[in-house]
Amino acid sequence: MRWMLGLVAVVAMTGGASAESASVKRGSYLANTIMTCANCHSPKGPPEATNGKDYSGGLEFDEPPFKVTAPNITQDKETGLGKWSAAEIKNVLLTGIRPNGTPLAEIMPTNFYQILTPSDANAIVAYLKTLKPISNKVPNPLYKMALPHHLFPGSEKPMPASAMRNKIKRGFYLATIGHCMECHTPMTQKGRDFGNGLGSGGFEFKGPWGVSKSRNITSSKTKGIGEWSDAEIKRAITQGVSKDGSKLKPPMGYGYYAGMTNSDLDAIVAYLRTVPAKD
Ligand code: HEC
Ligand code: HEC
Repeated sequence: MRWMLGLVAVVAMTGGASAESASVKRGSYLANTIMTCANCHSPKGPPEATNGKDYSGGLEFDEPPFKVTAPNITQDKETGLGKWSAAEIKNVLLTGIRPNGTPLAEIMPTNFYQILTPSDANAIVAYLKTLKPISNKVPNPLYKMALPHHLFPGSEKPMPASAMRNKIKRGFYLATIGHCMECHTPMTQKGRDFGNGLGSGGFEFKGPWGVSKSRNITSSKTKGIGEWSDAEIKRAITQGVSKDGSKLKPPMGYGYYAGMTNSDLDAIVAYLRTVPAKD
């Protein structure tokens, strides 16, 4: 009997290890495609200067309420997340609150992450734990006023795993954790107009590319993407090419979305078709 118990133990162990690597793989997929973490958390510049430095800290956001830099989220102990426990990392992703109690500026899209299923939230943390340490200290954040906290409507609680079988709901889930509507919704004095303006675009982004303005991605047939084919929408998302063939500018992370599975892209398109038309 003893050898059988041993066998059971071995099977259980390898089962555990492969469940862990499946989780890391899932976390890597989410972080490196739809969630575009590295679009903000990696240094920008010529490839020879930035190659291999993904996740070691990146973009600076200098706005009236704050001046913050996307921090180093590699496992470096001094300048990254090396000393954070898995629970602390998960908590900051789901609440926007650091272990020392300081809230993050809303640029970090944690207001969209509460919809994450527990297994996806754990997967992202498991993946971050595998990032090789890179030493790079970003400047400390500067907060000039109390920061607002607006949860994206519909993202308040984890999506039940059963809802993921519904294509439109899965598309909503992916578009939410991808914070598509954060960029594609106009800003009012009270924050983003997710009620009336959802998906109607018009928000400006300044950067090395000049100025880009997010577009109307509602189902409007005249101003939005209501008349576009599925293939045209998917090409815009993954290649940055508009319906008329013109090239789209950053900061949308086209190259990240290119790594998405076709079935996830189809789900996003199915959800976009349900976004009420706004002209
Ligand atoms: C739109 C840009 C953007 C995206 C996308 C983004 N982040 Fe952030 N993140 C930031 C900024 C900016 C901060 C710092 C905010 C501050 O200092 O108040 C931050 C803070 C953090 C922190 C806190 C670290 C610390 O030292 O306090 C963690 C952890 C983190 N992000 C992980 C992630 C992960 C994981 C993803 C993808 C799932 C992600 N971020 C996506 C911009 C972004
Ligand atoms: C960081 C901000 C940002 C995020 C996140 C973002 N977008 Fe965009 N998107 C833009 C901007 C800006 C443009 C327009 C660029 C230009 O005009 O050159 C754009 C363009 C588009 C277009 C092309 C529309 C047209 O008329 O050509 C589509 C479709 C689109 N986005 C869908 C999405 C979807 C779906 C998501 C989430 C998976 C998403 N976007 C996430 C900023 C963003």
